[in-house]
Amino acid sequence: MLLTTTTTQTAAAHQRARKAMPLGVTSNFRYTGDTTLVIKRGQGAYVWDMDDNQYIDYRLAYGPVLLGHADPRVNARITAQLERGNLYAHTHPLEIEVAEKIIQLHPGVERVRYANSGTEATMHALRLARAYTGREKIAKLEGAYHGNHDYALWSTANMAHNSGGSPRSPIPVPQSSGMPAAARDLIHILRFNDFEMAERLFRDRGYDLAALIVEPIMGTATCLLPEPGYLAHLRQLCDRYGVVLIFDEVKTGFRIAPGGAAEYFGVTADLYAFAKALGNGFPVAALGGRAEIMDIIAMAQVVQGGTYCGNAVGTAAASAVLDAIMQDKVLDLIRQRGERLMKGIDDILTEQGVRHYLSGVPAVFGFVLEQKKDKPLEYRDVANSNFQLYGDLAYALRARGVDVEPDPREPFFLSAAHSEVDVDETLNRFNDALKAVLGK
Ligand SMILES: Cc1ncc(COP(=O)(O)O)c(C=O)c1O
Repeated sequence: MLLTTTTTQTAAAHQRARKAMPLGVTSNFRYTGDTTLVIKRGQGAYVWDMDDNQYIDYRLAYGPVLLGHADPRVNARITAQLERGNLYAHTHPLEIEVAEKIIQLHPGVERVRYANSGTEATMHALRLARAYTGREKIAKLEGAYHGNHDYALWSTANMAHNSGGSPRSPIPVPQSSGMPAAARDLIHILRFNDFEMAERLFRDRGYDLAALIVEPIMGTATCLLPEPGYLAHLRQLCDRYGVVLIFDEVKTGFRIAPGGAAEYFGVTADLYAFAKALGNGFPVAALGGRAEIMDIIAMAQVVQGGTYCGNAVGTAAASAVLDAIMQDKVLDLIRQRGERLMKGIDDILTEQGVRHYLSGVPAVFGFVLEQKKDKPLEYRDVANSNFQLYGDLAYALRARGVDVEPDPREPFFLSAAHSEVDVDETLNRFNDALKAVLGK
């Protein structure tokens, strides 16, 4: 049964948007051609388009909406703050409180500074690493995304298939026109889970590297997990060559465990970037890490900050999210629901005889279909899967009121508002959608 039968008003709103904004969206990732959605409201685990079609939401604004849309705990904290204003050109108590909570929750964080987006947080982390080491080059993983700035927008999961060069010596591929060629000289590309390649780069160039920036779970490459010992291997190499290890926890932070990937995998970095789940959808981000490095952000040493950094609405939202993690144990709930969903998807794909591989953790996971390699280990293995079939399945799900990204590289996100009933209903619709796509 098709649930989202009418989309006329949504399509009209998108046409109107196209006249005012390129492609009618504020981020190219939100554009899906004629099927681009315009969403007028969200509540709990659901969003509604302009035609009042309801969708069970597994995109959750690309991850931030940890507690569910319009969560009353977050709304109450923000509303109380709004009475008192938002920005003061001075520190206010919520900033202190939230920084203390992050330090309490996260095993690798001794100091915190705020930003407004994941992009800003990774950009500041890289500058800090350069200032601390006196070196300029950085290394990143092929297929990883660290935000929009020119330093790291290389060899992301959006690069054209087979454009990354030899598997032994990948080349940096820019994701955008307009990026200065000079930035290319500052970057080295590694492949995820390739122990030997990391060893080789560090042996040859280790003393030129300021930082190695890593998404501990490959959030835009189907949530591939690090192989046992891989993160520890990177940690050891960074220690040996004096390189700052940065965990980009923009997707994993405050989602996969209270102490993020550092807690989950038992490996600490030197610096961390946080955003997304920290604010449940409100723009707040943070940079954190070891005091020895963070404390060089001192007057006239390393510039970090910005007009809106630490704004009271963002930190009020963060304060409510961190309380929900600490007091209401929401991450346990999310994990249980995610386990149920992952297992259900795995069972349905197996029953229908579709070759697949599920990766990630219950709070954020992905899967590829008809992949060439049994177990994908790195971005290129994900790229070698059936994107068309996945996209068809995603659109068939959307037509049945389940919103997922039509691209296997982007994950399913779970929120604390997704009930067991929502998950079971999703699985019913998943079964129907898959059968429809397979022509059964
Ligand atoms: C791992 C990671 N780092 C950084 C970013 C950039 O964050 P923002 O979009 O808030 O700038 C993202 C966004 O998706 C991300 O997933």
